[in-house]
Formats: sequence, structure tokens, C-alpha cells
Amino acid sequence: MTTTTTPTATGTAAEAVGTAHTRVEGVAKVTGAARYAGEVPHPGLAHGWLVLSTVARGRIRAVRSEPVLAMPGVLAVLHHENAPRLNAGYTNAFGVPDPIVQVFQRDRVPYSGWPVALVVAETPEQAREAAEALVVEYDEEPHDVEFAAGLPGVYTAESAPAGTKGDLEAELAASAVVVDAEYSTPEEHHSPMEPHAALARWDGGRLEVIDSNQGSRFVADELAKLFSLDPESVRVRSEHVGGGFGSKGTRPHSVAAAMAATVLHRPVRVVMTRRQMFSLVGYRSPTAQRVRLGADTDGRLRAVEHRAESLTSTVHEFVERSAEYGRAMYGSDAHHSVSRVVRLDVPTPSWMRAPGEAPGSFALESAVDELAEKCGLDPIELRLRNEPDVGPVSGLPFSSRNLAGCFEEGARRFGWADRDPSPGVRREGRWLLGTGTAAATFPMLSAPSTAAVTAEPDGTFTVRITASDIGTGARTALTLIAADALETAPERIRMRIADSDFGPAMIAGGSMGTRSWAWAIRVAAAGLRERLVLGGGIPPEGITARSDTSRAVGALPPMERHTFGAQFAEVAVDVTSGEVRVRRMLGIFAAGRIVNPLTARGQFVGGMVWGLSMALHEEAVRDRATGGHVGADLAGYHFAAHADVPQIEADWVDDPDPDDPVGIKGIGEIGVVGAAAAIANAVWHATGVRHRHLPIRPDRVLLAGAAAAGDAGA
Ligand code: MOS
Repeated sequence: MTTTTTPTATGTAAEAVGTAHTRVEGVAKVTGAARYAGEVPHPGLAHGWLVLSTVARGRIRAVRSEPVLAMPGVLAVLHHENAPRLNAGYTNAFGVPDPIVQVFQRDRVPYSGWPVALVVAETPEQAREAAEALVVEYDEEPHDVEFAAGLPGVYTAESAPAGTKGDLEAELAASAVVVDAEYSTPEEHHSPMEPHAALARWDGGRLEVIDSNQGSRFVADELAKLFSLDPESVRVRSEHVGGGFGSKGTRPHSVAAAMAATVLHRPVRVVMTRRQMFSLVGYRSPTAQRVRLGADTDGRLRAVEHRAESLTSTVHEFVERSAEYGRAMYGSDAHHSVSRVVRLDVPTPSWMRAPGEAPGSFALESAVDELAEKCGLDPIELRLRNEPDVGPVSGLPFSSRNLAGCFEEGARRFGWADRDPSPGVRREGRWLLGTGTAAATFPMLSAPSTAAVTAEPDGTFTVRITASDIGTGARTALTLIAADALETAPERIRMRIADSDFGPAMIAGGSMGTRSWAWAIRVAAAGLRERLVLGGGIPPEGITARSDTSRAVGALPPMERHTFGAQFAEVAVDVTSGEVRVRRMLGIFAAGRIVNPLTARGQFVGGMVWGLSMALHEEAVRDRATGGHVGADLAGYHFAAHADVPQIEADWVDDPDPDDPVGIKGIGEIGVVGAAAAIANAVWHATGVRHRHLPIRPDRVLLAGAAAAGDAGA
């Protein structure tokens, strides 16, 4: 693989950061030596199988355990009447109760797919057979799972306040050009390759858990609270994780496994099935969005309004904050944005890669394209005319902002200058061809973390940090960072991660993992080097220096801190079959100093594939009658497969963060932002038809084509 990289300001040939490195655990992964939570061997292991509710609302009347307990190998059936009592006062890391992890504590069923029991047996097959045979009787109540815009009960959550500036209606009234359009995105699922799994056991008074998650210390702390344990009495390890995308926090499987291990005095593993994941691990809420833009004839924005609605469950509030995307993006005289939420009898949604920004950017970046069309302006030129000097709503300065550089480089490489702005003019056989673009932004933050760096007597170094590598390449990136910080070669670094005993650290989330962990490693490494210059021998246990970045991170002044990107797509549309094919995509990002071009490119391209998938394929369908999903598996829920993915290029412009010790910003999520809008804008350019509802399915293309033909004939 070749990667073109712009050399960074701080990069030199001698440094490891900025050079391409294959994954340090790559051989272990491809040879199968790397063990995942669902396959770690353990003597005496019992296997738990979750039983999920088949009704969408009601109460459990009875769990008929007796026949199942007589089945081969069955050891226990845990449910609300016999499960150990968890800490009733439990609140999660945000200080609010979360009944989804307080499993088997009550008889109420708030949605279809709610965990009602755990069957434990000697083998997974016995557990599964018994779980499928378990009869659970319900007192069923009427449910409502149907999401739409403007439902009664939609409200503004305290956690998601509106952003407001200026007099919106006055500026709209004074605008020569107005776009007023509604957009929607469907329910989408994380679908990490590795299903959620946990092995729990008691060892000398400590709860030991091997779990697939995005933050071992985070999960350990949650389990400690749930089971009323001292945090030091819980250890969670997550050495290898096959994807998470926001779904792998504390989930019912690890709580249920710990419960069963407590009851049975045996190690117990619980692995979710793909189908179970559709109701147990969160998802992206469907959204209904309305955008109103007002501009002068020269495209300068006077008003930006973005109103988004999403759903949450009846037991826990999660808001998909789609409307906040524009708060960092476009300058305007007036701004109003709010993401509201409505409670339905559905599972609680959750963070999913670029939460808020992914659906929000689809709506706003589509609307901006519509505005460019109405103004007769090139969509890149329109965006550049609305570049803000300071935060559009906050008024705070940007720590750095190089969106213009992304568009300049992207337009050059994509060949944008040759584009005929008129829609529906390029044809190649049965295909109509079009190109589209969109901007992207994502917040860039740091979180306190701790690390320990040890100089070993043999001249190597061991780094211990509760980081998570969920497939991102974080372990490798941190190895390069440690090597530079210690002025040694990456081969001399032993990177140990994903063990809660290593201390508090940021989770792999919010595009903040590598940045937050790198900071802690740099500080610990600097402390170690100070001690090593004093000279003297290194004792057998080595010399260790520790760090805690809480104070340094807390001292960062408030600013608008973001990454940026420019997305480009070319599509081919067959309006007689409704088929849309993406032919090529290009993403250029300003996302801080790039630590490892090889894995960074994978992050960007992976995000862009998500955007393609969001634009054309992904849609979870809920059945109104049962309240559950139709086709909740990877056959019924299609996401982009190899045949759907064309040539995708991702690259970056020089953009080191001025406040980060390494210059890192964070790259996990920006790749998906704006990608779906670029494709939808390209479909418009190909066909002349706007698609404001995702995914752009063949039936939608056909219906839109028929409607356009009807208009033409009328
Ligand atoms: Mo990510 S959605 O912050 O794991």
C-alpha cells in the first residue's frame, strides 16, 4: 500500500511518528494467537445465554424455569425473581440511572429484546437450546414504536440545549434566497465484526472480567458500582477488540456474566448473538430534520436553522444531537439549532461513530448544496464565502481551522474544476453520472489519562496504560509515540494496554483516545528520562515513572477545537433500475498530526465507507405490530460490502494541533461526517433529483424519477 503524506512541521526522518508502521499485534491477529473475549480458553467455564423479551411493553408474569433446569447441562436460570440484587442507587458515569445494565432487577419490560433471563449451562449449545426452550409469560400492554417528525411528547433535553444567536425570523425574512427542506435518516446499527462477549470469574476476592469493550477501566468502575464493590476489587481486561464504534461500553452481557459467576462460584462467559446485538448494545436513532437557510444573492448566509428530532427509550435518555453540527461550521447573522427527542417503546439508542455529526452533516451539507444551486454558485465557493472567523455561535476563536485547505487540495485532486454545474447532463450508456461534495467537522477534545513507563534493565521500555485498541491501530500509534518520547526505536517498546489495573484513562471514544493516551505517555516518558539522566544502574524491577494529565488537560483554555474535512464523490445512477453506484470517493482532512499514515488512512477510509453505506444501504426496519426488528441480522441489515465499495482515497493536509504535545487531533470519526451528503449531492448532480431521505434506495430513485417525469409531462 502506498500512502502520500504531507510532512508535518514537527516531523523529521529520525522520528517514528509520521512514518507508516504495520500493526504491532498484526502477526498475533492473523495467526489466531490474539484471543478475543469470546474465545479465551478457561478451565471450568460455564456458558450463559441471554433470553430477550418477545413483547415490546408489559410485565413478566412468570418465568417457567423448571422444565429448562431439567435439560442437559443446565446449571441455572437467572431472572428478576432470583438474580442477585444490584446496587439500587446505581448511576452511570454521567450520574443517571441506566436500567439496561441493571439486569434482572424488575418485572417491567420496556421494549422488545429486553433481557429477561440468563440460562447458564455446561456448553454454549446446551445454554442456547435451553434459552430457546424457556417459556416466559407476559402481561402485555399496548406499545408505540413508530417514530416520525413532530410526535406529541417530543421535548428538549437538559443535556442538549438549543444554540441560538441573533433574530432568526428577521434574517430569514431579509434573505433573498431561502432553502427550507426536511431530511430524514433511518435507524442504523454499529455492527462491529466481533460480537459483545465477557468472561467473568472470582479470583481471591476479586472480580476478574475479560470483556470486549472500548474502555476497561470504565467498565470496571461501572461493574464496581453495580455490584457495590470497591473499584480495586474489579479487574477488566480487553486486550483485543474487534470493533466497537460506540456500542462497546458496559452492556448487559458483562453484568449478567458477573452475576452468574457470583451465583455459581464458577467462571461464566456470555456471548451475544448478532441478532441480540440489535436490541442490547445501542444504535443510532432515526432522525427527522428540518433545515432553513437564508442568504443574500452572493451566497452569504444570514440565517441558519437546524431542528432535529430523534427517539429514545422510556427507561433512559439518549439524544442524537444532529443539529449541533452547524455550530462549528458556517458563519451567519442568526443561528438556531436544537436536537429534540421523544420517548418510545424501543431500546435506548447510543453513541454511534460521529454521533450527531453523521446524520446532522447529511442534512446541513445537503441543504448547503441546495442553497448553492439556488444562488447559482459553486458549492465549494459558497462554503468558502461562509467561513467563520470565530465560532458561529460561541464567538470563541478556533484553535486551528483549515477547511479551506481541504477543499483546495480535494478540488485539485478530484478534478472539480472540470465539473459542469448543471445537473443531469453527463450520461454513459444507461448511467447518469454526477459529482458532489460536502464539508465535514468533528469536535476535538482531550480527556485526563494516566500512564506508567518503565525502563527495563535490558534497555527496553514497558508502557502501561488503560488504552483500548478496538481495531483502530491505537496500540501501534502509541508505540510510535512512546518511541519518540523516549528517543528509542519502536522495537524497544512493549505496549501494554486494556487492563483496568493500569489506572484511569480515556476510553476509545469521541475520537479522543489516542490523543488523550499519547499525552499521558509523553508526560510519563519525560519524567522517566529525567530520572535516567541521573545515571546509575537499572534494578531488576526497572525504573518506573507515572503521569496523570488531569491538570494539564483541565488547563486548556476554552476554544473552538475541531477537525475538518472535504468529501468528494462521483456516482452513477440508473434511473430505470433505481441503482446507484458510487464510482470514487476522495476525502481530504485537516485532523492534526498524523501518527501512523497506514492505520490513519484505514480510519478515514473506514469512516467514508460508513458514509457510503449510510447513503445507500443501511436501514433497520422496526415492525409496528410486534415492536421488534424485521431482519435483525447481517442478511436483513445490509451495509456496504466489497462490491459496493469503489476506489476510495483519503489524505490530509498539514494541521498539527498547537496545544497537543504531539500535535494530534483525533481521526476516528471525521471520515464518516459529510460523506453521505457528498453522495446525495452527487446523485442530485447526476439526476437533477434531490434525495432528502436515507438510504437512497432503488425504489426511492424510481419513484423520484417517475415523479420528475410526471412533472415534465404535466
Ligand atoms: Mo465513539 S461513537 O465515541 O465510540
